[in-house]
Amino acid sequence: MDAAPSGSGAGGIPRLPELDSTAGFLADGYEFGRRRFTQLGTDAFRTRLMGRPVTVIFGAAASRRFGDGRHFSRERALPSTVQHLLQDVGSVQTLQDGAHHHRKSLFIEVLQPAQLARLKDRFAEEWWEVRARADGSPISVPDASAVALTRAALAWCGLPVHHVDTARLSRYLVSMFENAARVGPAHWQARARRRRTERWAREAIELVRSGGLRVAEDAPVAVLAGHADAPQPGDAGGRPLPVDVAAVELLNLLRPIVAVSRFLAFTALALIEHPEWRVPVREDGHGGDRGRVRWFVDEVRRTAPFFPVVGGTARTPFDWHGGRIEAGDWVMLDLWATNHDPRIWEDPDRFDPDRFAGWSGDPDTLIPQGGGFLEEDHRCPGEGATIALMSEFATSFATAQVEVPEQDFSVDLRRFPAIPADRVRVAFPS
Ligand code: HEM
Repeated sequence: MDAAPSGSGAGGIPRLPELDSTAGFLADGYEFGRRRFTQLGTDAFRTRLMGRPVTVIFGAAASRRFGDGRHFSRERALPSTVQHLLQDVGSVQTLQDGAHHHRKSLFIEVLQPAQLARLKDRFAEEWWEVRARADGSPISVPDASAVALTRAALAWCGLPVHHVDTARLSRYLVSMFENAARVGPAHWQARARRRRTERWAREAIELVRSGGLRVAEDAPVAVLAGHADAPQPGDAGGRPLPVDVAAVELLNLLRPIVAVSRFLAFTALALIEHPEWRVPVREDGHGGDRGRVRWFVDEVRRTAPFFPVVGGTARTPFDWHGGRIEAGDWVMLDLWATNHDPRIWEDPDRFDPDRFAGWSGDPDTLIPQGGGFLEEDHRCPGEGATIALMSEFATSFATAQVEVPEQDFSVDLRRFPAIPADRVRVAFPS
């Protein structure tokens, strides 16, 4: 990239010299924003992506502003191809204000700590099974754990695991987040798989509603099936969610739980590359997800490439870094650059879980799953679940005897989402 900005855009926010930065985004991948923030010495810049004007921002203050529940919606925040494979139409992410609040409370309810303990315990059992079935042969951590997570997520939701082809469902759920950023045949195949999975999810919701499938009252699928829509102006609301919306939200529980497999790949890799962390992780990990196991997991979340950015549309005009953001402007919060911001994280490229001993705890500094407020905005409600699953996995991995075949651990940061080249293959000798 040519480092010289071609003027300041509107106000004090520099504009990149090239007409459109899509090629630069694809060439630099996760590092796209970070390189430009550093070279220009700025917290924000303007450019175009896919022909559309965008302002890219980063840092803790940007995260707070982006997620304060007042300044941004997620309307037109992502290209529609990405949105269809991830959160999808009618989901919590497409809502605002009261309707969002109401729907978000559903996710917060089903993901509360008591529920997470069940999810974590079930995952521990399923991961044990996967390891036992491999019988000492090498397995890929992300691929094998995706199956264990699919089975754990189904059981946790209250759905019968034995009636489902879990290997296939796992492949379908994985293909949604693996292909969201792609175009062409892989993307279209993932869309077709998504439609089939939505059909299955609609049937599951209908079965629960009709009583054809009996589930515990507090099982996530029962809470979801019984959840009523928010009241609308002139309408008391209170009707169950339309079945297609409930099905989309069921997938918004299952798919991201399976996506944690990506973080598990980087958890395993970190324990392989930093074996001195095996003892602290297993010592503290047997007690849950606090202490050094939590530092380790948070350092993996900070450094592992998953979502590079989140997009939003400004709802109201405001001044930012000497420039002006107008209502309707497309803005991207750079998660990767914030998680590597040298003003927050000393020597940000170094893997160092001990840095969390002195961390302020400011939730807008560590934002691999989005920033801002959980209840008022779109911050991921699955952070607790992610941390619980990663802690469980890290403890089990640090306790096990592990053989690591020769392989390529390099990570291509131009690929979304990125993954080590040989998909972290390990064996657990019996
Ligand atoms: C691999 C781990 C995960 C990552 C990297 C991740 C990342 C994210 C990101 C970046 C957002 C968007 C935030 C925004 O727009 O500001 C989000 C939202 C969301 N995530 Fe996660 N997530 C993960 C795990 C989970 C889990 C385990 C669940 C549920 C079981 C979950 C459910 C959701 C939901 C429902 C939303 C939409 C929230 C809203 O719009 O209010 N995620 N996540």
